[in-house]
Amino acid sequence: MDIPFVHWKNKNSQMKKFTSVSDVKNLQEIIKKALQIKKNPLSETEIGKGKTIGLVFLNSSLRTRLSSQIAAQNLGLNVLTLNAAQEAWNLEFADGAVMNGDTVEHIKDAIEVLNQYCDIIAVRCFAGMKSKEDDVNESILSQFEEHAKVPVISLESATRHPLQSLADCITITENWKEERKPKVVLTWAPHIKPIAHAVGNSFAEWMQEMDVELVIANPEGYDLDKNFTKDVKVIHNQDEALKDADFIYVKNWSSFDDYAAMPEVNENWMLTNEKLANTNQGKVMHCLPVRRNVELSDEVMDGENSIIYQQAKNRIFSAQAVFSEILDEINSK
Ligand code: CP
Repeated sequence: MDIPFVHWKNKNSQMKKFTSVSDVKNLQEIIKKALQIKKNPLSETEIGKGKTIGLVFLNSSLRTRLSSQIAAQNLGLNVLTLNAAQEAWNLEFADGAVMNGDTVEHIKDAIEVLNQYCDIIAVRCFAGMKSKEDDVNESILSQFEEHAKVPVISLESATRHPLQSLADCITITENWKEERKPKVVLTWAPHIKPIAHAVGNSFAEWMQEMDVELVIANPEGYDLDKNFTKDVKVIHNQDEALKDADFIYVKNWSSFDDYAAMPEVNENWMLTNEKLANTNQGKVMHCLPVRRNVELSDEVMDGENSIIYQQAKNRIFSAQAVFSEILDEINSK
């Protein structure tokens, strides 16, 4: 039987922006709200009526773009999607730049114009992976936060991917029915090129707000930023970390200390069924896109322990719960 939808108005009241877990007042409530939305996605088709969300992508996307569009449409919002890297003018990000080169429009001006068109601005702005300082300081997202006059939502920034992490929390909640805390292992996976830290950082940050035992497994030289992992146990031996795991979150990232480097790894860290046998019939998660047979094997990806597509579906309800909270705040004025 369907649980009737309850509008959780103001439970996460004053959600003025959504760029990290610290913008969520009550994580359990927003997970509950997302699960209710999943049962009845069209229960709030009026709250976005007459309002516009701008989805600005400075980087590629499949899931974030489409799930955000579906979520916004389910709430009655008008949706403007700008694939800025391909379709907009070449943007300048440096303050005080003399724009006599390739860049045509300053990000400050672009954001001021978005303010005229949008009631919510959502932006994807990956780490540049060139300057650790720029990335750690969120050199692009911070400009949106500074210049936007409407609520800002992160669609993945240099250091965090909060809509993904909320979807991950929803997925773990759906798949855990026991009384004890689940053991959740965030395990590093191989990759062919340097990958940013946003998903790993964010997952670590959000899991610390959940009632789980979190362990991070990565090779020597690949420890994530302590600002995100804090006191979480980090193990440099994958088999040891995977023992009795209930959830295994697979993700690559490059070195943080030797920024964006890829120190050599001699052991094979690709997740296989043989490695899964050591777990507590662990459910396998990945944010996607995944490089099959590099990060994890086909047999794991297509196997019965994979909840990866369910996780991708939950991106809709993660986005919809957040957009709904932001609209509550806008509509309350
Ligand atoms: N997981 C995720 O953010 O996917 P996209 O990069 O395709 O949006």
